[in-house]
Amino acid sequence: MRMIIQSDYDAMSTWAAHYIAHKITKYNPTPDNPFVLGLPTGSSPIGTYKMLVELHKQGKISFENVITFNMDEYIGIPEDHPESYHYFMYHHFFDHIDIKKESINILDGNAKDLDAECKRFEEKINSVGGIDLFLGGIGPDGHIAFNEPGSSLTSRTRVKTLTFDTIQANARFFDDDIDQVPHTALTVGVGTVMDAREVVIVVSGYSKAHALQKGVEEGVNHMYTISMLQLHPKGIVVCDEDACMELKVATFRYFKDVERYNLEPIEIK
Ligand code: GLP
Repeated sequence: MRMIIQSDYDAMSTWAAHYIAHKITKYNPTPDNPFVLGLPTGSSPIGTYKMLVELHKQGKISFENVITFNMDEYIGIPEDHPESYHYFMYHHFFDHIDIKKESINILDGNAKDLDAECKRFEEKINSVGGIDLFLGGIGPDGHIAFNEPGSSLTSRTRVKTLTFDTIQANARFFDDDIDQVPHTALTVGVGTVMDAREVVIVVSGYSKAHALQKGVEEGVNHMYTISMLQLHPKGIVVCDEDACMELKVATFRYFKDVERYNLEPIEIK
């Protein structure tokens, strides 16, 4: 696992966006050979989306031949609800880039048959050749997508019940009213994320410091599903210094040292 430590949220977002843009441009996607990108929601990736939109406006990157798959969606809230992940993605990203509508894949949390919807999603990922790069965030308990503590580390897309901690953490988006937060969601599995050819996780702020410490310094453990990244051949954590607050000084210094030539955002030509 690589760990790119940046000074703050903006620097973290800039680095992550440039890395993703670099991967896409280097791949040189075409209609017959599109780049497949997995995407998250939450406050962590907003800055990354902003920077990707900026790079697009500067003419440095096109999403015309990019196919996206989102990680998760709440069950039972309308797609046009301002807190649905559908709404989030269009508002922060898709409305501002040149992606084709038919290339966007988001789980339908209002599907009549939710299990069939999950199966369809996995099949669709396979049908386009798998995910080239999955961008993600983590919850304060170390969950990735909605793979709450105790989730199988080989799990696939499915229905999950959210923990009280996650509901509480997400209440800030629902007028701080816990009763408005859905209690269930559809989510890709840990196994679905790990099947991506590359995984980039953005982690910002002190509230994630405990989860990051568990995920980086301790063993692979289903109570912190992010720890599975240790087994991925191409996993990168991009974080800010606040998120490193619980790491050993030695861990912090080690990653700063080993990545010392890679801390500048990659230039997009
Ligand atoms: C939710 C999402 C996760 C996200 C997490 C953290 O639980 N399902 O994908 O990583 O929130 O969100 P934030 O970045 O807002 O802290």
